[in-house]
Amino acid sequence: LARIGTGTSFAEETATSVEATEAVTLATAAGGTLPIPDLLTATDEDGVSVFALDAQTGTNTTLVSGKTISTAGYNGTFLGPTIQLTDGQSVRFDITNNLGEETTVHWHGLHIAPSNDGGPQNTIEDGATWSPATTINQGEACTLWYHPHGLGTTADQVALGLAGLMIIDDGSDANAALPHDYGADDIPIIMQSTAVTSAGAFATANNNFTASASTLKFLVNGMSATDETPTLEVAYGRVRLRLLNASLTDSITVARSDSASFTQVASDAGLLLEPLSITSLRISPGERAEIVLDLTAADDAVKLQATVRNTTNGTRYTASMLSVSSTATSAADDLPTTLNTITDLDATDATTRTFTLSNSGASMLINGIAGTTMDIMDANAVMTTLGAIEQWTITNSSTNIYHNFHLHDVPFQIVSVAGAAPTGANTAWRDTIEVAPGTSVVIKMQFTDYADNEYMYMLHCHNVIHEDDGMMLALMVMS
Ligand code: C2O
Ligand code: CU
Repeated sequence: LARIGTGTSFAEETATSVEATEAVTLATAAGGTLPIPDLLTATDEDGVSVFALDAQTGTNTTLVSGKTISTAGYNGTFLGPTIQLTDGQSVRFDITNNLGEETTVHWHGLHIAPSNDGGPQNTIEDGATWSPATTINQGEACTLWYHPHGLGTTADQVALGLAGLMIIDDGSDANAALPHDYGADDIPIIMQSTAVTSAGAFATANNNFTASASTLKFLVNGMSATDETPTLEVAYGRVRLRLLNASLTDSITVARSDSASFTQVASDAGLLLEPLSITSLRISPGERAEIVLDLTAADDAVKLQATVRNTTNGTRYTASMLSVSSTATSAADDLPTTLNTITDLDATDATTRTFTLSNSGASMLINGIAGTTMDIMDANAVMTTLGAIEQWTITNSSTNIYHNFHLHDVPFQIVSVAGAAPTGANTAWRDTIEVAPGTSVVIKMQFTDYADNEYMYMLHCHNVIHEDDGMMLALMVMS
């Protein structure tokens, strides 16, 4: 049986040079203007859209004065370009690794075959190119993201800046009725609660995310909101913000600084049933949420603040994360009243499983197992079959430590949260869900389209420090 983590690499090609044109730079935007990652342009090869990503290293000398911080990015030195895809599109991703160390690239939330998923088995050796090809088959309009997923190295590589957004258009009328002009009224917001240690490196251990151990920074699209509030001016009366929490460990609560309401239109895995008026939104690591701000209703700029909460401690700080203004003079059109229809999965005959997330000191466990090595089809792998409907109870039995639960391949529906029926965004599809200490979340899902008897999906806590410390198991969908 194949073993991962032994240096075996899969589906490699010889390295080709990729032009780095879509640079995102860390913390150097002038005048407080929010930097916006470029859209990645595809080249067409006989009807296949080919997206080239070059994982590369860089340095930053401006984020913390006197410190030269190592960074990494895709097609630039921090973060990566946005990949915009449409259901039915044939695509190939050519990922070249120029990091000087092994990496992988996982398409978080994408419904894709296990051999193309970019988990720990899809190692890309330094200097090599990995080229997964697929037809986009998501079925939902959603905001996904891509990031490394090596066994035990995810936190290190994500902390350096290896993360980018992926936007899926499902062709629905509802998605088209929402703001969808990228960079104009449809804006990516990559939030990172990060910290720079006294040694001048991005923190990757939980105990370095404190003001005494490190310089805390809240980054928005690579710009430090800790130092100057990013500003965004749009020409529309309404703007859609695609929020991603790309932090290693911290949950982020987003609210307007005037406490007024705003509208959520999508969870991390799809549009909500209908627009949801909220006054704050907590987003755990790895999660996304789409919100719409009505700008013509406000006389002044709409200001958003982010309250950062370490998953082990209390509130750490509030950052003024974004100030959005509009040059539009007429009121925005109404939002559609219905955004999505979701067919409830029939779990009457579902296979049921329980996953208990716990810790023994720094060792992070699922059902008592630390998934720090993974053998295909070993005793720890969760085995299911193509087409199966399953219902899982996820319990956080740690004291005072938040965990969250992310499943690869398919989104899930939420049956209950701490014993109560789901409300708000939890009535939509999700792929990541926070589980508070001492509580359980029940989810159900169906494994469709893709099966493989050699390649594995993953299920894990998306506090990526916990993930690296073992809170991850393999999932095999067998044909
Ligand atoms: Cu965002 Cu298994 O990962
Ligand atoms: Cu966790």
